[in-house]
Amino acid sequence: MHFQFLLSLLTLTSVLGLSVPSPDQLSRRETLEEAAHNARVLVKDVKTGTLASVFPNMTDLAGRPFAMMEYHAPCYSNGSLTLILMPISRSTQNIFQNPGHHAAYTVSMPTEGVRSPMSRGRVALMGNVTTLRDISSSQSEELAQCYTIYHPDSKYWLPGNDNSPHTSYWARLDIDRIYYVGGFGDIHYIGAIPVDLYAKSENGVQQGYEVKEKDDSEFLRIQNDLNDQVTF
Ligand SMILES: *[C@@H]1O[C@H](CO)[C@@H](O)[C@H](O)[C@H]1NC(C)=O
Ligand SMILES: *[C@@H]1O[C@H](CO)[C@@H](O)[C@H](O)[C@H]1NC(C)=O
Ligand SMILES: *[C@@H]1O[C@H](CO)[C@@H](O)[C@H](O)[C@H]1NC(C)=O
Repeated sequence: MHFQFLLSLLTLTSVLGLSVPSPDQLSRRETLEEAAHNARVLVKDVKTGTLASVFPNMTDLAGRPFAMMEYHAPCYSNGSLTLILMPISRSTQNIFQNPGHHAAYTVSMPTEGVRSPMSRGRVALMGNVTTLRDISSSQSEELAQCYTIYHPDSKYWLPGNDNSPHTSYWARLDIDRIYYVGGFGDIHYIGAIPVDLYAKSENGVQQGYEVKEKDDSEFLRIQNDLNDQVTF
């Protein structure tokens, strides 16, 4: 397991901030490379998100979406997220009762006190979830150390905690599609972010990144899905 314990980056993050200045300081649009880094900073700075899943085919609500607030911790340098999942939760049941274990996780900038919350950044990370049941106690301890930096209150329900009110498991969301809305499109990037760019954008804006053929078609496909296939 390529696990990275990223204590020092927490400090770095607050210093880095987002790569794009506020709208009134800005005369150019957020680039794809900046968007990838800004999305990483967003997922690090904002500690809760919304986990979306789909009801499995054996339920009354088969195929219908479900979304609920969840905690995440950005414990992997490539952007995969650490989650604590409880079998009792509807999200967990939906994810693991569906083949592929797909989920989407979205994180948004806080909007309190902001005149137009639509101007704030948000990102949707799509992928699949794997439970980490066979990890060593030292790996589990590393996860616990990372996760509790972001969520000190979670110490009461960490996997393996005998006093926890519910059974819980470490899990990892691996990302295979990303859709980002930086804010208003005149100055912010809106669209797909290639996963490989996201994976290496934790510590800074990647210069000279070229969208590869494959990523470009993915980019266009997601945008077309969202723009053209929606009829009102
Ligand atoms: C990130 O790392 C995890 C854990 O090693 C791996 O499962 C996942 O595929 C990686 N994702 C990317 C985009 O490299
Ligand atoms: C539900 O999904 C499972 C797994 O894909 C499949 O084997 C089964 O046939 C499906 N059942 C129905 C009623 O569609
Ligand atoms: C998640 O998706 C990757 C490919 O994107 C696949 O290799 C892996 O087996 C999937 N994991 C699960 C738990 O379905």
